[in-house]
Amino acid sequence: MLLDVHDLKVEFRTRDGIARAVNGVSFGVDAGETLAVLGESGSGKSVTAQAVMGILDSPPGRITAGEVLFQGRDLLRLNEDERRRVRGAEMAMIFQDALSSLNPVLPVGDQLGEMFVVHRGMSRKDARAKAVELMDQVRIPGARERVKQYPHQFSGGMRQRIMIAMAIALEPALIIADEPTTALDVTVQAQVMDLLAELRREYKMALVLITHDLGVVADVADRIAVMYAGRIVESAPVQDIYKAPAHPYTRGLLESVPRLDLKGRELTAISGLPPNLTRIPPGCAFHPRCPMARDVCRTDEPPLYAVSETRGSACHFRTECLHA
Ligand SMILES: Nc1ncnc2c1ncn2[C@@H]1O[C@H](COP(=O)(O)OP(=O)(O)OP(=O)(O)O)[C@@H](O)[C@H]1O
Ligand SMILES: [Mg+2]
Repeated sequence: MLLDVHDLKVEFRTRDGIARAVNGVSFGVDAGETLAVLGESGSGKSVTAQAVMGILDSPPGRITAGEVLFQGRDLLRLNEDERRRVRGAEMAMIFQDALSSLNPVLPVGDQLGEMFVVHRGMSRKDARAKAVELMDQVRIPGARERVKQYPHQFSGGMRQRIMIAMAIALEPALIIADEPTTALDVTVQAQVMDLLAELRREYKMALVLITHDLGVVADVADRIAVMYAGRIVESAPVQDIYKAPAHPYTRGLLESVPRLDLKGRELTAISGLPPNLTRIPPGCAFHPRCPMARDVCRTDEPPLYAVSETRGSACHFRTECLHA
């Protein structure tokens, strides 16, 4: 296993008290695999990604427990220098908002080239040539001229391509993409997603894809992890989840989006709101919103039960849910 996250916990000190943003998250990613992470806003997807990448804002954030095993090493035990070497070279991240992740006063070619200067000890001239090559690879037209331009001179879609170019530059084993296309319009979204999927295949990189777009998930992911209130509540191969969810929350998510194959069916949003993370309900955190909740759900927190060899569900009534 390439990445093996074990019982990760992240807290934020807020005025309301301690917010348990990540609450014992465990998941694995095999080499070359694509894992999609789903869940409503505030469920802890980005914080999990930041903790894994070693870029969590700390303070106010604090990793209080867990292991992040990457190629066998626990990243949480590395010092900042060692972590920096892993970042970029072995795992890279793509963010939603390229404009705030790129340096506004540095030509994009210099930013791309910097990766090769810092991590590979290349000369500026060779690094510049590499930057052009990368921009070609992410299909930015006129790369040779545009390599000297600044981030604001590119459209949103092109900037996102530059982010992808930076992420793949050193051919890392893992890319974490946090809603990489959310800020783009729909047609550009599809192009950028296709490009990312294609490059991932070409370089045989593993991808953790945080997204709200279930259409994208069906197309590119091998597995899905569904997060709720800082925990993974269901984890399974994509086909299994689309066939029948084993958690009522997953069911709610699937039913709240339009699906081409179920035209004409009514959309139902999940009723109620996600919990305040400083006051997560006892028992199953989803019980106040769950149509299947019974007494045990209000008192006993369900662990991630094995539903099959490849599937887990943190629901007391997972079998019922599967056959509902
Ligand atoms: N800088 C911060 N300070 C305080 N609390 C924070 C901070 N960042 C995140 N949190 C807490 O962690 C929770 C999870 O945030 P996170 O960004 O991981 O959500 P998400 O699942 O990525 O949501 P979205 O879909 O909106 O991106 C938030 O609801 C918030 O309570
Ligand atoms: Mg997020």
